[in-house]
Amino acid sequence: MTTMQPAPEKFGDIITPFYYYDLNTLRATLDTLKKESESSGYKVHYAVKSNYNPRILQTISTYGFGADCVSGNEIAAAIKAGFKPSETVFAGVGKTDREIEAALAADISCFNCESIPEIEVIDSLAARLNKTARIALRINPHVEAHTHKYITTAVEESKFGINTWELDSVVSKLGELENVKLTGIHFHIGSQITMMSVFKNLCTKLNDIQKWFSSKGIFIETVNVGGGLGIDYDDPSKPPPFEEYFALFRKHTELLPGQTLHMEPGRSVTGQCGSLISRTVFIKNGKTTRFAIIDAGMTDLIRPALYQARHKIENLSSSGGKTCQYDVVGPVCESSDTFAQSVELPETQRGDFIAIRSAGAYGEAMASRYNLRNIPASYFSDDF
Ligand code: LLP
Repeated sequence: MTTMQPAPEKFGDIITPFYYYDLNTLRATLDTLKKESESSGYKVHYAVKSNYNPRILQTISTYGFGADCVSGNEIAAAIKAGFKPSETVFAGVGKTDREIEAALAADISCFNCESIPEIEVIDSLAARLNKTARIALRINPHVEAHTHKYITTAVEESKFGINTWELDSVVSKLGELENVKLTGIHFHIGSQITMMSVFKNLCTKLNDIQKWFSSKGIFIETVNVGGGLGIDYDDPSKPPPFEEYFALFRKHTELLPGQTLHMEPGRSVTGQCGSLISRTVFIKNGKTTRFAIIDAGMTDLIRPALYQARHKIENLSSSGGKTCQYDVVGPVCESSDTFAQSVELPETQRGDFIAIRSAGAYGEAMASRYNLRNIPASYFSDDF
């Protein structure tokens, strides 16, 4: 899988910055995901939050995957793009009444619930609409994800999930409620996880929690292991390690007869197919630092500023010859608007096209209008 960047001559006078998506890379990723999930008998719900560009959503929906959504707007966008409501799940710690009502009306497949107050509200809204809401309990399994702290979710006193010691009271509460039906358990321990042993630890916890439910005589139809599989930001041409990931779950989960395992990958699906393409505005020389000031900023791709994330940077207009070290920075009035420090690039000039790679996940989806900047447009490989 090699994500092709078009030759810069093809960009003509397209306004930069923009997102460029290589559909061949996306399809190759989806082909592997489909093959692995089908042969394992697992159901994939794509995490819409990683990229909700309509064309990306449509492409993914044609593979027959479900959708994992975290807002009413994501549910609407997923259904519009062709995902079936019966294969759409709704997660999130702060679902509003309006969002819950809309999801009930759309008859989505499951609410992933994070607290007793939330379950009570879903029950009462379902009762009002004369419906039964299928729910899964998002359980905090307390597994260290070994990733950035902002994208670690299964720590103690996390806002996410129900603690295992609360399960008794949740189960007895469920016994009192008539308009919710427990169908699943759900876990998500963090994102950009690259140590496979983390997922093995999740399996161990999941198996224990399963036994707890069995001991109570409660049958759980679906076991959802969330998302989190990391990608290689140093090598954008490297596909996510789906084979190893699926094999790990096949080996280490003890599913009961009639149970289905669900997964919610986001980054691993969309990450490597997207690049943020920008033009160099100025080269500015400091005492020791050479700044390449580009027209993309943290408003277009916030990951470096927010998580100190490293994305590979390429100069598409010049290759070979002399190289120099640059701090590649954006135009936004914040020092954190820095994409990389001391990165080795071919000698770069005003006007050169710069690609920031592996930006398909949580790139366009997290764009903002700070400094009243434009939201970047998106183009696809078949536009060129
Ligand atoms: N399921 C749940 C419940 C989640 O919260 C998430 C991501 C996923 C699935 C998908 O996880 P993935 O496969 O993409 O790791 N903005 C951050 C990432 C935030 C992830 C939030 N939850 C970043 O740019 O690194």
